[in-house]
Amino acid sequence: MIPIARPELGELEQDAASRAIASGWVSQGPRCLEFEAAVASRLDLSHARAVNSCTNAILLTLIALGVKPGDEVIVPAFTCVAALNPIELLGATPVPVDIDAETFSITARGLDEAVTVRTRGVLMAHLFGLAAHVEPVADVCQRRGLWLIEDIALGFGATIGQRPVGSFGDAAVVSFHPRKLITTGEGGMVATNRADIADAVGMLRNYGASRPAWERHHKRLFDLPAYTVAGLNCKMTDIQAAVGIEQVRRMDAFIEARTCIAERYDDAFQRLDWIEPVAPRGGSIPSWQSYLLRVESSRFSSRNGVRDRLLAHLDAHGVAAVQSAQGMHTIHYYSQKYGWAGDHFPAADIADRSTLCLPIFPSLSPQEQDVVIEAVCSFRP
Ligand SMILES: Cc1ncc(COP(=O)(O)O)c(C=O)c1O
Repeated sequence: MIPIARPELGELEQDAASRAIASGWVSQGPRCLEFEAAVASRLDLSHARAVNSCTNAILLTLIALGVKPGDEVIVPAFTCVAALNPIELLGATPVPVDIDAETFSITARGLDEAVTVRTRGVLMAHLFGLAAHVEPVADVCQRRGLWLIEDIALGFGATIGQRPVGSFGDAAVVSFHPRKLITTGEGGMVATNRADIADAVGMLRNYGASRPAWERHHKRLFDLPAYTVAGLNCKMTDIQAAVGIEQVRRMDAFIEARTCIAERYDDAFQRLDWIEPVAPRGGSIPSWQSYLLRVESSRFSSRNGVRDRLLAHLDAHGVAAVQSAQGMHTIHYYSQKYGWAGDHFPAADIADRSTLCLPIFPSLSPQEQDVVIEAVCSFRP
């Protein structure tokens, strides 16, 4: 079976992890600081705080921004449930906005229409390694006094012009899960130019402590830290950070290898009239975290399950494809609680029914690519 993802973890990462273990300091410490600096630099941002998942990066950023019960946070109607849950767990209300069919992210117009007196900010996503139309969204946020968090769990590494996605809002949240561009097993990061957000997240990830343990140890400060906020334990380990440092060094090579595979797929599939191509937005360079296939929706009734038959066909041919992001109205908890339904979010609903992701990762061999291509081309819609 060709997997959907194969983490690129080799000798460099093994050696780095071994050195971290041998150092005797394995919890959040100097390697986390180095990893944070590397990610901040990739994003052209001044601060970054490593945590143990992107979900917790979102949670802690929302707390840092003061989100409280009764607040509304605008989210895409098509994304990962992990983005909504922290809002919900804080007692705030996620307000989904439909997506544009080109970039799968919220539009400035949709955002403008969804704002109420209770809206505090926007959590938008750059999905699948594709850059969204973030500039007009950032403009609306600025005009209306809303904060903007860019969810780059899947978008890390993509650029618009020379500018990295993640550098347009108040903060970016990153994921290092194994299906992402770079991985630390599990892990996440909050990156920002705002010192207030960075400081708050730094405390919130560490029980609310004013100083991390490594700093106390390093500077021989033996008094206990102050606890001025109630925090959690969302720290990344230095073993993970050691792996992450090596992964950031290899990031450009990963993007290059993924781009070659995406170009091969594009060439092979352009003659298939049942596929509607997904093209990166103008002026952007994707990271190809995912390669998205979209079944041409106008040719099929939305409920005839062509995409699901395609998934089964690929599975039978040894290719592990998956639906990745999903319509938030398809999630039981949210549809039950808020009554969200597909006809409220038509573009998200179509994306939910018509898309799947194919295997794409740097070590996908040309022979494996052939198997994927052959499997897709032999499908009869
Ligand atoms: C768009 C998006 N946001 C957030 C997350 C959560 O990331 P993590 O698994 O690191 O918590 C994911 C996970 O895939 C995602 O796709």
